Amino acid sequence: MKIGILTSGGDCPGLNAVIRAIVRKSDQLGFETIGIIDGWKGIFDENYIQLDLNSVAGIINKGGTILGTSRFSPFEKKNGMDKLLNKISRKKFDAIIAIGGEGSMHIAQMAYEAGINIVGVPKTIDNDISGTDYTFGFDTAVGIATEAIDRLHTTAESHHRIMILEVMGRHAGWIALYSGLAGGADVVVIPEVTTKISQVIKVIKSRYNRGKRFSIIVIAEGAKFDEKSMKLKKENKKLDDFGRERLGGICTFLADEIERRTGFECRATILGHVQRGGMPSAFDRVLGTRLGIYAVEMAYEKKFGRMAALQGNEIVDIPITEAIGKLKTVDKDLYEVAQVFFK
Ligand code: F6P
Repeated sequence: MKIGILTSGGDCPGLNAVIRAIVRKSDQLGFETIGIIDGWKGIFDENYIQLDLNSVAGIINKGGTILGTSRFSPFEKKNGMDKLLNKISRKKFDAIIAIGGEGSMHIAQMAYEAGINIVGVPKTIDNDISGTDYTFGFDTAVGIATEAIDRLHTTAESHHRIMILEVMGRHAGWIALYSGLAGGADVVVIPEVTTKISQVIKVIKSRYNRGKRFSIIVIAEGAKFDEKSMKLKKENKKLDDFGRERLGGICTFLADEIERRTGFECRATILGHVQRGGMPSAFDRVLGTRLGIYAVEMAYEKKFGRMAALQGNEIVDIPITEAIGKLKTVDKDLYEVAQVFFK
């Protein structure tokens, strides 16, 4: 069996653990593994590398992806589907394991419908893919964000400032909520809940009245405020290669508003790609490894059009359509737990 492996969309810690596991398991079963460079674009460019035990040695602890990635969508290109099918049959792939986030799983489903033998593996630091309890990358990102909150805490307290940390999370506030809970944030602002700035200020003032002259706010990049005054600068409206708005910078809007309305000194930090880079946590390495092994078994059993997923402590497989049908947003109960601390 000849298996092609690609990583697509934003990178995240743990991708190399998956690639390594796929190659190791394939070696055990006598399968050939080909790395496709830079996601779906690699098939168009016929840019491949042969993967063997040596090519994946020593990569489990490395962030990013040794295969490179892109947000290239073959179906957006002229004659994209025909090109894709031709190039895949020319290379004689028996199966393609596509490791990607929500956007990439949409492409994987289209490829499957076009007749390609696809196995999906979910990845994203945002943890917003349905059908899987966690995605690898998330645990690492939460760890980095929590450390950032701990560091902001000491300087916030010394200078009696309001510190705002912006983390990633386009549609879902998982990173903000988990790191906010772990780091003892005073307010967490997530995309799922339209927030009133007056509510945030109420918390800051009530803390001030209790003698706490500093506060820590964690905000997800995709957060929404109901204030009509919210006008993000034009330069924030650039698009990525999937045509989605490039996010980042909402924390400065919130900082300016709080400072303007209260007179409290307010500073904003955008954590940005720091939370997506570097070494994966042990949890993400193990999850990535388990998913990679399982994905090869799925290919062997011809479970195409399906995605490996973590449910409880089991790795299972679900239809890709189930994973992309609806985003997995923060659950209300967990947000209510966090709200106990917004006071
Ligand atoms: O999709 C995952 C994600 O981490 C989003 O939270 C974020 O908006 C996006 O990636 C940013 O990715 P990039 O900077 O690569 O465009």
